[in-house]
Amino acid sequence: MTKQRLKYGEKILFSIFGAFFVLGIIAFIAMEVVRAKSEKPMFTVTTHFDFSPVGSEGSKIYREARCNSCHRALRSGTSMGLNLDGVGSKRSRQWLESFLNDPEKTYGAPTIDHGPSPKEASYVSAMPKEDLRKIAVFLSELRADRGSAMAPEPPPERSGFIDQMVGTFAPENWKDKYQDIREKNKSDPAAKESQQQ
Ligand code: HEC
Repeated sequence: MTKQRLKYGEKILFSIFGAFFVLGIIAFIAMEVVRAKSEKPMFTVTTHFDFSPVGSEGSKIYREARCNSCHRALRSGTSMGLNLDGVGSKRSRQWLESFLNDPEKTYGAPTIDHGPSPKEASYVSAMPKEDLRKIAVFLSELRADRGSAMAPEPPPERSGFIDQMVGTFAPENWKDKYQDIREKNKSDPAAKESQQQ
């Protein structure tokens, strides 16, 4: 059998593909080198945690209870389900504990994975109440900065980006129906507290 030589077009296609491949590798190496040498983190970290003793216990129970197979917390786990980093800035400890014990009632709507069996995370509400309380404390200590994707509040300063997005996508009369959360917080500092609930 004679070896078939590549056609002219095939050569061009393979060269283009090869060039992209090599370029990708070079770019990746360059990025990693810059990242390793740079003093500044490449991405701003907007979620924080500082655990109380009960919170650390909760974190251990959380890890052992396979929550990370669907969730993301402490910047590890999967991104398939909800990200729980920063959830403590969105939900109160009471809400979290209530959700873990009785998901559908707390949501006031049918849930996908939490809830009665045969749902996949039905085991969660069957865990010992004391464990769920500690997990709720742990989750309530996962905080997010204002303005980050996980925070209930927009950034404290006026953001040109948000103004632009609202201008482009919100219909003209949206303010008749909804209140601008940025103005609401300015006029009513107590609103900030109540949003945590
Ligand atoms: C099989 C996948 C799965 C597993 C395992 C799982 N979860 Fe969830 N979790 C979800 C999904 C999906 C939701 C969204 C609610 C729903 O539809 O069930 C959710 C919602 C939540 C919420 C509410 C978040 C919010 O702000 O609305 C909390 C808190 C939570 N999970 C904690 C846990 C903890 C703690 C564990 C482990 C003990 C766990 N989950 C295990 C899939 C899972």
